Amino acid sequence: MSTTPTRQTDGSPVLSAPEAITNRRATRHFDPDQPLPDDTLRRILHLATLAPSGYNLQPWRFLVVRTAANREKLRQCAYGQPKIGQAPVVVIVLGYHNPHRTHLGPMVAEQVRRDAITPEIGKGMTAMATRAMENVPDPQVWATRSTMLAAATLMIAAESLGVSSAPMEGFETEKVKQAFGVPDDHSVCCLIALGFAASSQTFPGRFGLDDVCYQEHFGQPWTLGDV
Ligand SMILES: Cc1cc2nc3c(=O)[nH]c(=O)nc-3n(C[C@H](O)[C@H](O)[C@H](O)COP(=O)(O)O)c2cc1C
Repeated sequence: MSTTPTRQTDGSPVLSAPEAITNRRATRHFDPDQPLPDDTLRRILHLATLAPSGYNLQPWRFLVVRTAANREKLRQCAYGQPKIGQAPVVVIVLGYHNPHRTHLGPMVAEQVRRDAITPEIGKGMTAMATRAMENVPDPQVWATRSTMLAAATLMIAAESLGVSSAPMEGFETEKVKQAFGVPDDHSVCCLIALGFAASSQTFPGRFGLDDVCYQEHFGQPWTLGDV
């Protein structure tokens, strides 16, 4: 069997999911002179949209900021983080609180069109999702759950295509919303800078499975050991 890695159209290798997950670093410094090709950006965003979401309502919205002027505006909302000025692309990752009010119908119709569900199941799904979503205790929390899965998918997708990323929570929400016209029913979940790292970074380490896994009951020690 061939061991030649899959390649992108520009010839660069595509990493497997375990390789991309292992290699990804929160990039500290981006090369400001290396642009991110449109095709690669489009692929990364498309792969991010394949993340799972509650009721498949896909609450993520990606506000893509590319011009130097707008990245500078965003940097001013993010405690002056230099990487926002260096990276060719910064994505403002938004979570939409009420996608069921605007997108439930089209989402169900698409599933029926694909024969993923029957029209009858679609009707039931519509009724159930509407009822559940109108009674969600905290729509912001609901939207953030799925949106952060898309954010993680986006970073792993980027890494797999040879693109570095940097997630950020260091920003002032109200400033970002005002500067970029984000409506009240959308949360700013994080910012993600995308581009090419200016230097390599050392893996900062993680806790072991013994520290983060329990077995069968909260607090009960994990016995399978580490990798
Ligand atoms: C939700 C989230 C928010 C973060 N916010 C920032 C940030 O504002 N600025 C920053 O320099 N790094 C930020 N980081 C990067 C973390 O510091 C980094 O992921 C962590 O130190 C582990 O490093 P690694 O991702 O390279 O393994 C953030 C990471 C996450 C997941």
